[in-house]
Amino acid sequence: MTRLTFDRVDYRSTPTASPILGEVSFSLAAGEVAGLFGRNGAGKSTLTRLAAGLVLPTAGRVEVAGICTSTRDPDIQRRVGILFQDADRQIVGVTVEEDLAFGPENLGMEPAVMRTRVRSTAERLGLAPWLRRPVAELSGGMRQKLALGGVLIMEPDFLLLDEPTSQLDPWARREFWEILLDLRRERGLGILVVSPRPAETDRLERALVLEAGRLVFDGPIADLWAAPDRVAAWGVRVPEGIRWRQAAGFSVPAGSGGNGGGAGR
Ligand SMILES: Nc1ncnc2c1ncn2[C@@H]1O[C@H](COP(=O)(O)OP(=O)(O)OP(=O)(O)O)[C@@H](O)[C@H]1O
Ligand SMILES: [Mg+2]
Repeated sequence: MTRLTFDRVDYRSTPTASPILGEVSFSLAAGEVAGLFGRNGAGKSTLTRLAAGLVLPTAGRVEVAGICTSTRDPDIQRRVGILFQDADRQIVGVTVEEDLAFGPENLGMEPAVMRTRVRSTAERLGLAPWLRRPVAELSGGMRQKLALGGVLIMEPDFLLLDEPTSQLDPWARREFWEILLDLRRERGLGILVVSPRPAETDRLERALVLEAGRLVFDGPIADLWAAPDRVAAWGVRVPEGIRWRQAAGFSVPAGSGGNGGGAGR
C-alpha cells in the first residue's frame, strides 16, 4: 500500500528559530480522504509543502512510497500533486493544451502518450472544447479546474489541496469534489485537503488538526466532532449539520465519502 508518512518531523525557517512544525507524525494511505484543520498560522501550508518535498524537514523524515523527500528523487514530484489556493500561480501555458502538457513535457514523456493524456485529462475536467483556447479566456472556476488538470495529468498517488475551493461558487465546488472522489474510487488517489469548508466535511473520513505546529488530533472525523469544546479551542468550526445532530441527540455519521451518510442509530 502506497503511503505518505511523516516521522517526527520538525521544521524551522532558520536553525535558531522556534519550530513552525514540531514532532509531527502521521501516515496517509493512498485512497484515504483526510482534512487538515487548524487556525491561521498553525502550520497547515508548511505541512503540505513538506509533504510534496518542496521543503525538507529540519529533523525527522517525510516519505512518499518509501522514498525519503531529502533524496530529492524526482519521482516524488510526480507522486505528490499539490494545488494552491490561487490557481493562477500554477498556470504556465498560454493555451489550455500547452498548460496541461507542461508537466509531462518536463518529465520527458513520449509525445504520443502525452497527447493521449492531455486529451483524457481535458475530457475528465470538461475542458476538451477549450484545448486550443488561451487560458486567459477561461473563467475563474475553469482556471481552477485547469490547475487541477495540470496536477492530475501526472497521475499522482496523493493530492494535497491547500484551500482549493475558496474561490469557487457552490456549484463549481461540488463538481470539483465529484472529480476528486471519482479519482479516489478509480485510482485510489489519497487526498489531503486543508481547511475544508464545513459543508465539505461530510466527504472526509479522517481529520488531522494542527495547533501551533503540533498535531493535536488524528482520527476519524466523527471523533473530532464528538468533542465540540476541544474542537472550538483549536479554532475549528463544527459544521451546522453536525451541531444540529448533536443537539437533537443523534449520533454523528462517520465520513461517508460523498453521499452525506445516513443518521446513526
Ligand atoms: N518562510 C517562513 N519564514 C518564517 N516563518 C514562516 C515562513 N513560512 C511560514 N512561517 C510561519 O510559520 C507559521 C505557519 O505558517 P503556515 O503558512 O504553514 O500556516 P497555515 O496554517 O497554513 O496558516 P493559514 O491558515 O493562514 O494559511 C506561521 O507562524 C508563519 O508566520
Ligand atoms: Mg495556509
